[in-house]
Amino acid sequence: MASQPTALSNASEIEVLHEFVKLAKAKLGPGPWDYIAGGAETETTLIRNRLALDSLAFRPRVLKDVENVTTRSRFMGRDLRMPVILAPIGSIEDIVEGGAVTPSKAAAEFGIVHMLSSVAQPGPEEVARSNDNWKLFQLYVRGDAGWIDEIVARVIAAGYAGLAITVDLDHYGRRERDLAKRFKPTARRAAPTVRMHQERFAWADIERIKAKHKIPLILKGIATAEDAAEAVERGIDVIYVSNHGGRQLDHGKGTMQVLPEVVAAVRGRAEVVVDGGFMRGGDIVKAMALGANAVGLGKLQAFAAVSLGVPGVVRMLEILEDEAIRCLGLLGVKSFDQLTPRHLEAITPIPGRHGIASAYPLLGEDY
Ligand SMILES: Cc1cc2nc3c(=O)[nH]c(=O)nc-3n(C[C@H](O)[C@H](O)[C@H](O)COP(=O)(O)O)c2cc1C
Repeated sequence: MASQPTALSNASEIEVLHEFVKLAKAKLGPGPWDYIAGGAETETTLIRNRLALDSLAFRPRVLKDVENVTTRSRFMGRDLRMPVILAPIGSIEDIVEGGAVTPSKAAAEFGIVHMLSSVAQPGPEEVARSNDNWKLFQLYVRGDAGWIDEIVARVIAAGYAGLAITVDLDHYGRRERDLAKRFKPTARRAAPTVRMHQERFAWADIERIKAKHKIPLILKGIATAEDAAEAVERGIDVIYVSNHGGRQLDHGKGTMQVLPEVVAAVRGRAEVVVDGGFMRGGDIVKAMALGANAVGLGKLQAFAAVSLGVPGVVRMLEILEDEAIRCLGLLGVKSFDQLTPRHLEAITPIPGRHGIASAYPLLGEDY
């Protein structure tokens, strides 16, 4: 008789990544679930993130020595056990015990890096004190130049290694799952008067911040070669290709469709990060083959953190690493730096599979 899997209450019992999605959905009410899983308006951008990944097939090379494959890589002058950033999650304190400390500790334990959202609790100092790992901070502009200078000074004093400014939220996307349920996460309850600062924010402000503060700058939410070039000309250190997981501008491109033009425009003058729909080790391999230096995880991080806290996120990263190692080995390379765009080819994705189900077909119809 086939044995049933036991109730998954222990991270070490998790064998496949979709189990985190199931656990998270079972644990959250419909409002918080949709806050994590949903996108803006028709959710076309959200779906295209997965579609862009699914529109790439691997071209494996065989008969290479692929003993001792490693996912280790370098980013922002530091070692990462795997080229992955835990992306900023606002209002994480609403959905995860320990709030932003949870992914920060998990990143430390596994050996990658966490980017703290400026609209997450606890704030930068308390997160900094929670572990010794290096850290990144992400800022939404919610005040004037004086306000920005004060928060940037705090972040530098707390030892953060980089400041990401999110540039794809000048207007808040219409997240219709949230609107239809009248669901408002904590970060959305901010006074409307603070929004004008983000709306007015422009390249001149980036130049001012760059001139005034000694901290590597990351622009998060770049979606064209033109803006990547503008950023590089202003000495930005990291170009972060993102559409906010499809939560902002609807009917945008999938980020993996954007990545090649950005890599070409940057021409090695800055590092490049990409996020949007990354759910598998093989997805990370695809981004690295196209010239990314690291990949961000939003929803997958949230599902693992909601499910089982720090051990859950660490286990999720272990499974991703295992998938990535097998994928690299089967492609005939021992590490990410041996990949080239010739390991990939454009292909028609399998019809009828989209969104999260394209990453985890075992989830079935309800997701
Ligand atoms: C619940 C949730 C909250 C988020 N909050 C922020 C935030 O505070 N700041 C930010 O720059 N991006 C935020 N994002 C976007 C993520 O940092 C990341 O760009 C995106 O989730 C990547 O796509 P993925 O979810 O498909 O992995 C959030 C995403 C989610 C799912």
